[in-house]
This record gives sequence, structure tokens and C-alpha cells, in this order.
Amino acid sequence: MSENASTLLAVTNVTLAYGKKVVVDDVSLTVPAGPFGLGLIGESGSGKTTIARAVLGLLPVHSGEISVAGMNVAHLTRPQRAAYRSILQPVFQDGTEVLDPRMSVRASIREALRVVGRAQHDDIVADLLVDVGLRSDVMALHPHQLSGGQRQRVAIARALATEPRLLILDEPTSALDVTVQARVLDLFEKLRAERNLSFLLITHNLAIVDRLCDEAAVISAGRIVEQGPADAILGDPQHDYTKKLIASVPLLESS
Ligand SMILES: Nc1ncnc2c1ncn2[C@@H]1O[C@H](COP(=O)(O)OP(=O)(O)O)[C@@H](O)[C@H]1O
Ligand SMILES: [Mg+2]
Repeated sequence: MSENASTLLAVTNVTLAYGKKVVVDDVSLTVPAGPFGLGLIGESGSGKTTIARAVLGLLPVHSGEISVAGMNVAHLTRPQRAAYRSILQPVFQDGTEVLDPRMSVRASIREALRVVGRAQHDDIVADLLVDVGLRSDVMALHPHQLSGGQRQRVAIARALATEPRLLILDEPTSALDVTVQARVLDLFEKLRAERNLSFLLITHNLAIVDRLCDEAAVISAGRIVEQGPADAILGDPQHDYTKKLIASVPLLESS
């Protein structure tokens, strides 16, 4: 592989399709070892979630290659499969996608610990909850007993249970109200520094990219139209599509 040894995620000339419909065309992205954030910006339907799904191994790669820590997602051996599952974790819009409504917070987090072969003691669960700014006694509750912001924090704690190096954040605060969004962004910033995490951060909220990302890539209709340092892309966009995107979204709406 030609990429640098510090490359954590490499998406190389990737094309993705649903049946015969190509929705991501010849996309290349790299995310180095953390702390690092790559923002993937684009309007609804541009292919962002499709890329996230392929990186997570939930959608086959049509052509090109996706690798994480040098492991090709299309050809994982059994031990690599386990490693892949622990190295990268998704965080979606709100906790409801990953939290089973019938399971207590304790059971959800224990399950994540079990999957990667970690001990499942209550003190480990408690530490994870405290790390994301919750009280440890939240572990006895079920998802419906939590606020949206608390649910998202539990989902983040669950993601951290595997000791990941890369978080795939797909619109991670868009279901939360603005004040809660700001606090969850503070949490991502703290975790990124404390745990040397890398983020592939999908959003149409450019203020979030401004806060959390070193680099940004702009996607339109399945193709990357511009990528580079986040401050250059946000401050001095070159492509017309990026200019329109920036003009249509207030940059500081959540700060
Ligand atoms: N399961 C699916 N089957 C067929 N087409 C899909 C499916 N999911 C998404 N698409 C299409 O793929 C394109 C990209 O979608 P998506 O990756 O969800 O975009 P984004 O996350 O940027 O809003 C859209 O045209 C969407 O309609
Ligand atoms: Mg999406």
C-alpha cells in the first residue's frame, strides 16, 4: 500500500452503487491517526451516508478500495474482522439507531464490551458514562427514560467501549436542539484530545466542521469537488458548489 504509515482510513478511488445506480463516483479520502477530524460536507442526497456505510462494512465496495489501519474492508480475515469492529465505531443522528429500547444502558454498554472481548464490570460501564458527562447511575435506565442529549451521550459511551481510534460521525448532533448540540460538540472536542481520536464527520452544519475538523472534503452528486484544510475551504471556497453551500448555511449557527 502506498499510503503513509500514519494513515488510519484510506478511501481510494471508490465507487458505490445501489443495484445499478452509482451514487458515489471515484471518491478518495484519507484520515490520519488522531487527533484529527475530516469533515465530509454536502447537501442531502450527495452520497455522504453511503460512504459511511461502506467504510463501516455495511455496503459492498463496487470498485476501488477502503482500508482501515491497513486492513481492506473487502477482504477481512476473521481476526481482522474483530479488529476492524473495534477500531472504528459509528455515531449517528441520535442514540435511537444503536440503542435497543428493551435494553438498559448497562446492558447496551456491556454488550459492546463483550463483542470486543473486554471485561464487562459495572465500574468500566460507570467510567465510560462519566467520560461522556453522564452520572453512572444512568446505567440502570432504559433509552425512553433519557433526554435526546443523554441518549446521544450513551450512544457515544457505547462507541467508546471498544476503545476505537476512528469515529464515523453521521450528522451526530442534527437531532438535538441547539444548546444540547453545543455541549455534545464540547464532548467530541474533549474526547478527540484525550483519546487521540480521529473523526470522519459527516454534516451539513459547517459550524461543526469549523469546530472539529482539520480538513474538509466537499461532495456533490457523489463526487468530491473540493478538499483541503478546513479553514481554507470554509474561509475561501474555490468551487461554486461550496460557495453556495456556505452561503446557504450560517457558519456560526450553533456556537
Ligand atoms: N438503500 C438505498 N437504495 C437505493 N438508493 C439509495 C439508498 N440509500 C440512499 N440511496 C440514494 O443514494 C444517494 C445518496 O444517498 P445518501 O448517501 O443517503 O446521501 P446523504 O447522506 O449525503 O444525504 C441518494 O440519491 C439516495 O436517494
Ligand atoms: Mg445522510
